[in-house]
Amino acid sequence: MAPHLIDLSPTDMERRLGEALGIYVDAMRYPRGTEEQRASMWIEHTRRHGWKAVAAVDTPADAADTPDDLIGAPLLGVAYGYCGAPDQWWQQQVVAGLKRIGAAQDRIDELMTSYFELTELHISPHAQGHGLGEALARRLLTGREERHVLLSTPEINGEANRAWRLYRRLGFSDVIRGYHFAGDPRAFAILGRALPL
Ligand SMILES: CC(C)(COP(=O)(O)OP(=O)(O)OC[C@H]1O[C@@H](n2cnc3c(N)ncnc32)[C@H](O)[C@@H]1OP(=O)(O)O)[C@@H](O)C(=O)NCCC(=O)NCCS
Repeated sequence: MAPHLIDLSPTDMERRLGEALGIYVDAMRYPRGTEEQRASMWIEHTRRHGWKAVAAVDTPADAADTPDDLIGAPLLGVAYGYCGAPDQWWQQQVVAGLKRIGAAQDRIDELMTSYFELTELHISPHAQGHGLGEALARRLLTGREERHVLLSTPEINGEANRAWRLYRRLGFSDVIRGYHFAGDPRAFAILGRALPL
C-alpha cells in the first residue's frame, strides 16, 4: 500500500461517490444498501458553506503521482465536513441536547457560532490502523477559520475503538455524552475541541 492524501472537489466527490459510500458502509459495518440512502445527502453536503473533503488513495509504487494518477487511484479513506449553521438538523439536535443537559446559553452560543462539523471520517477496513485516519483528520482541519470542531460518534463501552482513541489523541473532549438523535436508537457522544489543532 502506497497511500497519498488528496483534496476532493465537489465534482470529485460526485464522481467517486459510490466508492466513497462503499468505504463508509464497510468501515461502519452498515448493511449493504445504506449507500443509496446516503447518496443524496452527501451530495447536498457538498453545497454547504465551508465544505471540504479529503481522501487517502492507494497509488501503485511506480505511479508518477501526477494529479491525474492520484485522483483516479483507488480510495482507501474519505473524510469531509463543513461549517455548522442554525438551519442544519445536526446543529438543532446538538442545541436541543445542550439545553437538555442544562448548558448555559453563553456556552451554547460560544460553541455554535463558529464550528466546523467533522461529518464523516472513514478508512477502509483493510487500511485501518496505519495512521491514515489521523492524517486525514489533520489535513481536513488544517487552516480552518472556525473556532471549534465538533463531531458525533457512537458510544462504545470503555471508548474502546479506533475512532475514540483517535479523537482523544487529537484532544477532543466531551460536549454531550449518551445523546440520542431523533429517530436513532443508538447513543452518541458529541465531542469537540478548539481550533487550530
Ligand atoms: C476511526 C478511523 C477513521 C481511524 O482511522 P485509522 O487509520 O484506522 O486509525 P488512526 O489514524 O487513528 O491510526 C492509528 C493506529 O495506526 C497505528 N499506526 C501505524 N502507523 C502509524 C503512523 N505512522 N502514525 C500513526 N499511527 C500509526 C497506530 O498504532 C494506531 O493503532 P491502534 O489504533 O491500534 O492503537 C478508522 O479506524 C475507521 O474508519 N473506523 C471505522 C469507522 C469509524 O468508526 N469512523 C468514525 C465514526 S465517527
